[in-house]
Amino acid sequence: MTAAICRRLFNCVRSRLDAVGVYGIYSCSITKIFSIFQNFTERISRAPHGTIKMKIAIASDHGGYALKNELLPYITELGHEFRDFGCYSTDSMDYPDIAFPAAEAVASGEFDRGILICGTGIGVSICANKVRGIRCALCGDVLSAELTRQHNDSNMLAIGGRIIGIETAKAIVKTWLCTEFAGGRHERRIGKISDYECR
Ligand code: RB5
Repeated sequence: MTAAICRRLFNCVRSRLDAVGVYGIYSCSITKIFSIFQNFTERISRAPHGTIKMKIAIASDHGGYALKNELLPYITELGHEFRDFGCYSTDSMDYPDIAFPAAEAVASGEFDRGILICGTGIGVSICANKVRGIRCALCGDVLSAELTRQHNDSNMLAIGGRIIGIETAKAIVKTWLCTEFAGGRHERRIGKISDYECR
Protein backbone atom coordinates (compact mmCIF):
# COMPACT_ATOMS: atom_id res chain seq x y z
CA MET A 1 0.00 0.00 0.00
CA THR A 2 2.71 2.44 1.06
CA ALA A 3 4.80 1.35 -1.91
CA ALA A 4 1.90 1.97 -4.29
CA ILE A 5 1.35 5.47 -2.87
CA CYS A 6 5.08 6.28 -3.13
CA ARG A 7 5.19 5.00 -6.71
CA ARG A 8 2.16 7.07 -7.69
CA LEU A 9 3.62 10.16 -6.02
CA PHE A 10 6.91 9.74 -7.88
CA ASN A 11 5.16 9.26 -11.24
CA CYS A 12 3.05 12.33 -10.59
CA VAL A 13 6.14 14.49 -9.88
CA ARG A 14 7.88 13.14 -12.95
CA SER A 15 4.90 13.79 -15.25
CA ARG A 16 4.69 17.37 -13.92
CA LEU A 17 8.40 17.90 -14.73
CA ASP A 18 7.81 16.39 -18.14
CA ALA A 19 4.91 18.75 -18.75
CA VAL A 20 7.11 21.81 -18.21
CA GLY A 21 9.94 20.36 -20.30
CA VAL A 22 12.32 19.87 -17.39
CA TYR A 23 12.24 16.11 -17.33
CA GLY A 24 14.14 15.77 -20.63
CA ILE A 25 17.10 17.67 -19.20
CA TYR A 26 17.23 15.85 -15.89
CA SER A 27 15.85 12.48 -17.03
CA CYS A 28 19.10 10.56 -16.45
CA SER A 29 19.57 11.66 -12.85
CA ILE A 30 15.86 11.26 -12.22
CA THR A 31 16.07 7.70 -13.55
CA LYS A 32 18.96 6.97 -11.16
CA ILE A 33 17.12 8.53 -8.20
CA PHE A 34 14.04 6.58 -9.19
CA SER A 35 15.92 3.29 -9.16
CA ILE A 36 17.08 3.94 -5.55
CA PHE A 37 13.53 4.98 -4.66
CA GLN A 38 12.14 1.84 -6.31
CA ASN A 39 14.48 -0.41 -4.32
CA PHE A 40 13.24 1.30 -1.15
CA THR A 41 9.57 0.83 -2.03
CA GLU A 42 10.25 -2.82 -2.92
CA ARG A 43 11.74 -3.41 0.50
CA ILE A 44 8.81 -2.00 2.45
CA SER A 45 6.26 -4.10 0.54
CA ARG A 46 6.76 -7.79 1.22
CA ALA A 47 4.92 -10.78 -0.22
CA PRO A 48 3.51 -13.50 2.08
CA HIS A 49 6.51 -15.87 1.71
CA GLY A 50 8.96 -13.24 2.88
CA THR A 51 9.92 -12.37 -0.70
CA ILE A 52 9.47 -8.83 -1.98
CA LYS A 53 5.95 -8.22 -3.29
CA MET A 54 6.12 -6.68 -6.75
CA LYS A 55 3.91 -5.42 -9.55
CA ILE A 56 4.71 -7.42 -12.66
CA ALA A 57 3.91 -6.39 -16.24
CA ILE A 58 3.47 -9.56 -18.28
CA ALA A 59 2.84 -9.93 -22.00
CA SER A 60 3.04 -12.52 -24.75
CA ASP A 61 2.36 -12.93 -28.43
CA HIS A 62 0.46 -15.97 -29.74
CA GLY A 63 3.68 -18.03 -29.53
CA GLY A 64 3.89 -17.44 -25.79
CA TYR A 65 0.18 -17.27 -25.01
CA ALA A 66 -0.21 -20.82 -23.63
CA LEU A 67 2.86 -20.59 -21.38
CA LYS A 68 1.84 -17.14 -20.14
CA ASN A 69 -1.59 -18.44 -19.10
CA GLU A 70 0.04 -21.23 -17.14
CA LEU A 71 2.40 -18.77 -15.43
CA LEU A 72 -0.22 -16.18 -14.37
CA PRO A 73 -1.63 -18.17 -11.40
CA TYR A 74 1.91 -19.08 -10.39
CA ILE A 75 2.89 -15.40 -10.16
CA THR A 76 -0.10 -14.85 -7.85
CA GLU A 77 0.90 -17.92 -5.85
CA LEU A 78 4.36 -16.39 -5.36
CA GLY A 79 2.63 -13.37 -3.82
CA HIS A 80 3.01 -10.84 -6.64
CA GLU A 81 0.49 -8.72 -8.55
CA PHE A 82 0.45 -8.62 -12.33
CA ARG A 83 -1.16 -6.89 -15.28
CA ASP A 84 -1.51 -8.85 -18.50
CA PHE A 85 -0.66 -6.57 -21.44
CA GLY A 86 -1.94 -9.15 -23.95
CA CYS A 87 -2.29 -10.89 -26.23
CA TYR A 88 -5.54 -12.49 -25.20
CA SER A 89 -5.96 -15.33 -27.70
CA THR A 90 -3.92 -17.67 -29.90
CA ASP A 91 -4.64 -15.52 -32.99
CA SER A 92 -1.46 -14.56 -34.79
CA MET A 93 -0.22 -11.08 -33.83
CA ASP A 94 2.98 -9.01 -33.88
CA TYR A 95 5.13 -9.26 -30.73
CA PRO A 96 6.28 -5.57 -30.81
CA ASP A 97 2.65 -4.58 -30.16
CA ILE A 98 2.74 -6.17 -26.70
CA ALA A 99 6.45 -5.94 -25.87
CA PHE A 100 6.82 -2.15 -26.18
CA PRO A 101 3.82 -1.19 -23.98
CA ALA A 102 4.87 -3.66 -21.26
CA ALA A 103 8.51 -2.48 -21.39
CA GLU A 104 7.46 1.17 -21.23
CA ALA A 105 5.27 0.40 -18.21
CA VAL A 106 8.31 -1.05 -16.42
CA ALA A 107 10.62 1.78 -17.54
CA SER A 108 8.12 4.36 -16.27
CA GLY A 109 8.20 2.83 -12.80
CA GLU A 110 4.53 1.88 -12.86
CA PHE A 111 5.63 -1.77 -12.63
CA ASP A 112 8.58 -3.21 -10.71
CA ARG A 113 9.48 -5.90 -13.23
CA GLY A 114 8.27 -7.38 -16.49
CA ILE A 115 8.02 -10.80 -18.08
CA LEU A 116 7.73 -11.21 -21.86
CA ILE A 117 7.03 -14.41 -23.74
CA CYS A 118 7.06 -15.09 -27.48
CA GLY A 119 7.88 -18.26 -29.42
CA THR A 120 11.64 -18.04 -28.83
CA GLY A 121 11.76 -15.09 -26.40
CA ILE A 122 14.12 -13.39 -28.82
CA GLY A 123 11.75 -10.98 -30.58
CA VAL A 124 10.30 -9.62 -27.34
CA SER A 125 13.74 -9.24 -25.75
CA ILE A 126 15.01 -7.27 -28.76
CA CYS A 127 12.02 -4.90 -28.45
CA ALA A 128 12.30 -4.48 -24.67
CA ASN A 129 16.01 -3.68 -24.81
CA LYS A 130 15.29 -0.74 -27.12
CA VAL A 131 13.35 0.98 -24.34
CA ARG A 132 15.55 3.25 -22.20
CA GLY A 133 16.07 1.87 -18.71
CA ILE A 134 15.16 -1.69 -19.64
CA ARG A 135 17.60 -4.53 -19.14
CA CYS A 136 15.78 -7.56 -20.50
CA ALA A 137 17.37 -11.00 -20.13
CA LEU A 138 16.36 -13.95 -22.28
CA CYS A 139 16.66 -17.01 -20.05
CA GLY A 140 16.24 -20.69 -20.78
CA ASP A 141 17.76 -22.01 -17.56
CA VAL A 142 17.68 -21.25 -13.85
CA LEU A 143 21.37 -20.35 -13.48
CA SER A 144 21.07 -17.63 -16.14
CA ALA A 145 17.97 -16.29 -14.36
CA GLU A 146 19.87 -16.10 -11.09
CA LEU A 147 23.02 -14.56 -12.56
CA THR A 148 21.20 -11.97 -14.64
CA ARG A 149 19.55 -10.65 -11.49
CA GLN A 150 22.79 -10.68 -9.51
CA HIS A 151 25.00 -9.24 -12.24
CA ASN A 152 22.77 -7.29 -14.65
CA ASP A 153 19.95 -6.22 -12.31
CA SER A 154 17.65 -7.20 -15.19
CA ASN A 155 14.23 -5.65 -14.84
CA MET A 156 12.61 -7.74 -17.56
CA LEU A 157 12.73 -11.46 -18.24
CA ALA A 158 12.12 -12.95 -21.69
CA ILE A 159 11.13 -16.58 -22.13
CA GLY A 160 10.62 -18.76 -25.22
CA GLY A 161 7.17 -20.30 -25.03
CA ARG A 162 8.08 -22.80 -27.75
CA ILE A 163 11.47 -23.53 -26.25
CA ILE A 164 10.95 -24.44 -22.59
CA GLY A 165 8.24 -26.30 -20.67
CA ILE A 166 6.12 -25.07 -17.79
CA GLU A 167 8.20 -26.58 -14.97
CA THR A 168 11.43 -25.00 -16.26
CA ALA A 169 9.57 -21.73 -16.85
CA LYS A 170 8.23 -21.72 -13.27
CA ALA A 171 11.69 -22.41 -11.85
CA ILE A 172 13.17 -19.59 -13.96
CA VAL A 173 10.42 -17.12 -12.98
CA LYS A 174 10.65 -17.96 -9.27
CA THR A 175 14.44 -17.62 -9.23
CA TRP A 176 14.41 -14.43 -11.29
CA LEU A 177 11.74 -12.82 -9.07
CA CYS A 178 13.42 -13.62 -5.77
CA THR A 179 17.10 -13.06 -6.60
CA GLU A 180 18.55 -9.69 -5.59
CA PHE A 181 21.08 -7.58 -7.45
CA ALA A 182 24.58 -8.17 -6.05
CA GLY A 183 25.74 -4.55 -6.50
CA GLY A 184 29.47 -3.91 -6.05
CA ARG A 185 31.45 -4.09 -9.30
CA HIS A 186 28.22 -4.82 -11.17
CA GLU A 187 26.85 -1.42 -10.15
CA ARG A 188 29.66 0.25 -12.11
CA ARG A 189 28.90 -1.85 -15.21
CA ILE A 190 25.17 -1.11 -15.07
CA GLY A 191 26.10 2.56 -14.66
CA LYS A 192 28.01 2.41 -17.94
CA ILE A 193 24.91 1.07 -19.70
CA SER A 194 22.80 3.88 -18.22
CA ASP A 195 25.44 6.45 -19.21
CA TYR A 196 25.39 5.15 -22.78
CA GLU A 197 21.59 5.40 -22.85
CA CYS A 198 21.77 9.00 -21.66
CA ARG A 199 24.21 10.19 -24.33
C1 RB5 B 1 5.89 -15.91 -34.04
O1 RB5 B 1 5.66 -16.88 -35.00
C2 RB5 B 1 7.35 -15.89 -33.64
O2 RB5 B 1 8.10 -15.37 -34.67
C3 RB5 B 1 7.52 -15.07 -32.37
O3 RB5 B 1 6.75 -15.64 -31.36
C4 RB5 B 1 8.91 -15.00 -31.80
O4 RB5 B 1 9.49 -16.27 -31.69
C5 RB5 B 1 9.82 -14.02 -32.42
O5 RB5 B 1 10.96 -13.82 -31.98
